[in-house]
Amino acid sequence: MTLTDLYELRDDVYRRPLITALQRIGLGPGWKVADLGAGNGDVSVALAAQVGRTGRVYAVDIDPLRRNEIASKASLFSQVVSVTQAVEELGLPEKVDLVFARFLLLGVDSPKVAVAKMIDGVRQGGWIVAQEPITSAGRINDHALSTDAPMIKWPDIGIMVPKLLADAGVILTDMWAEAPVGYGSGPEVDYLFHMTEHPIPKDATVVLPPLVTVVGRRK
Ligand SMILES: C[S@@+](CC[C@H](N)C(=O)[O-])C[C@H]1O[C@@H](n2cnc3c(N)ncnc32)[C@H](O)[C@@H]1O
Repeated sequence: MTLTDLYELRDDVYRRPLITALQRIGLGPGWKVADLGAGNGDVSVALAAQVGRTGRVYAVDIDPLRRNEIASKASLFSQVVSVTQAVEELGLPEKVDLVFARFLLLGVDSPKVAVAKMIDGVRQGGWIVAQEPITSAGRINDHALSTDAPMIKWPDIGIMVPKLLADAGVILTDMWAEAPVGYGSGPEVDYLFHMTEHPIPKDATVVLPPLVTVVGRRK
């Protein structure tokens, strides 16, 4: 399974909290937004579908290889602009109405620095949405998931995100955690198998790492 396939699976299983977050902030036509750590662009595409032709989506990722993936996925959306940049050096041509980061902070060196740059990219009164996991709260039957993975520096970053944003002066307006659950087979089981590379018993109940969503506004 390629990284792109894995991202597609993630998009399947974590789509609901993404859509809920976009509904709660009232994202609509004409918004200028940034998807930080855009990966293969699934979040960018969801954003582009809602901001329409009068809006703009900056899809930012540190990895230059992501640009092509995002471009191919977002080819129907002319308003998606791919930017190869580290979030720690974020410098967009304009302040945006919303910065969105999903599964980004778990892999950065300093979540505090990354959060400060996120906030700096938003206009006053604009929206900040962070969606990050609590990996150790995932389960295969009654076994907790291992948090040992090379790319993941902060496996339980989800639990830290409310304080990170509040300490940085963001007005928190909404937060919740949501964990996809699967049994036996299906996208949740496939996703977990490919994440952990451990065999999963065929009658297992799996609980994916809960995704903590924190929604706030810049003062
Ligand atoms: C786990 S993927 C998440 C992708 C996407 N947000 C999603 O939810 O499917 C993390 C992405 O963040 C990017 N990334 C990691 N560190 C970064 C940084 N410091 N600045 C910008 N992007 C970064 C990686 O290249 C990768 O594409």
